[in-house]
Amino acid sequence: MVVPASPVARETGGDPVFEVSRRATALRAAQGDAAVVDASIGHLFRDDGTLWTLGAVDAALHRLPARDISAYAPFLGTEGFRRAVAEFLPPPPGAVQTVIATPGAAGAIYLALACNTRPGDAVLVPTPCWPAYATILRQHGRRLASCPLLGADDRLDAGALGSGMEELRRAQGRVTAVLNTPAHNPTGHSLDDREWEDLRGLLLAVGAPGDPVTLLVDVSYLEFAGDADRERRFRERLEGLPGNVVIAVAWSASKGFTLYGWRVGALVLAHPDPGVVAGLEEAAASTVRGTWGNPPRPGMALVEALHFDPALRAAAVTERGEMRGALAQRAAVLTSGADLPTLGRPEGFFAVVRHPDPRRAAEALEEKGVFVVPMDGGLRVALAGVPSPKVGRLAAAIADVIRPRRGDP
Ligand SMILES: Cc1ncc(COP(=O)(O)O)c(C=O)c1O
Repeated sequence: MVVPASPVARETGGDPVFEVSRRATALRAAQGDAAVVDASIGHLFRDDGTLWTLGAVDAALHRLPARDISAYAPFLGTEGFRRAVAEFLPPPPGAVQTVIATPGAAGAIYLALACNTRPGDAVLVPTPCWPAYATILRQHGRRLASCPLLGADDRLDAGALGSGMEELRRAQGRVTAVLNTPAHNPTGHSLDDREWEDLRGLLLAVGAPGDPVTLLVDVSYLEFAGDADRERRFRERLEGLPGNVVIAVAWSASKGFTLYGWRVGALVLAHPDPGVVAGLEEAAASTVRGTWGNPPRPGMALVEALHFDPALRAAAVTERGEMRGALAQRAAVLTSGADLPTLGRPEGFFAVVRHPDPRRAAEALEEKGVFVVPMDGGLRVALAGVPSPKVGRLAAAIADVIRPRRGDP
């Protein structure tokens, strides 16, 4: 008997990023690495073309006895891991916080959306955005409502976000929105002080009638912000919100700890009322038991080792600085070097080069062996995945496609 494909799976089937990457890999296999510039996936590569993993991860890995990592972990994560994450994301003053271990930030996003929304609800996501938000929502019978992330001045479009949230509040009696900052995927944009203040203002306004409001802040690229230590305290900038407004945080070890494949992340929930936090934690724990079960222990053990061992921690901090330096240099080739028009202020793994017809432009680039992902408003360029020696060629190819010279076909 043939099992019929689920209509939901069909509708949300392909991952646009991995499809582009698959074509890049096929060309590399056929014509060799020199023929390909693969700027599709958000993996950080060294300039020699290999995956850039933290040296401290290697060191910690060799010290993990199987008996310490093979046992089941508690449903909410190991105590040491939860403590480490609470130190990466210190609770705002006066708030109680819980950390729930998840398989990556993807797991945290799923968990937050499953617990805070009802089947059929729409969730507001500013676009362009990480395409998997739509998949996670549709797979679980929720809908994606969108609004532009950036306004004409290239800053957070707080007006659009505020009216989108208000519309959902009126329609559903509750509202959830997802915001990815700092070093947003795909634009690389990070909110500045004024943008945080605008966001606080709109949350106060949407929260005023008393309906439940959840803002899920996805900080997957936190360590790649210009000033990560300042960013990790972002919730202090949202102080004074009413009790019906909850700020949830999706945290990831994939990029900041180079543990992509280990599937480590966390959902972090804080609120001034301990009873509210206990209720949220209970709902999340029940969803955890009903989906992936116990979270994977080995990745949690690595995060714990890198955080609590002073030498490993110092080595990781230094190496992350080198990573940020390499990424900034690659971005500079695109912006100040080739003067390509980007959306927002790129920082971290990605940049979006503006283009009115991104699909056509991406196809033209693939003909030159250059792989980027078409998104709303432009081409997503995963600078993280492009070794520096290839970034000049990448920038020149994009410049040719978006600003064809006279005489070009
Ligand atoms: C914005 C954003 N959020 C979440 C994730 C998922 O990260 P993780 O590997 O931690 O599940 C990604 C991965 O690319 C991402 O770009």
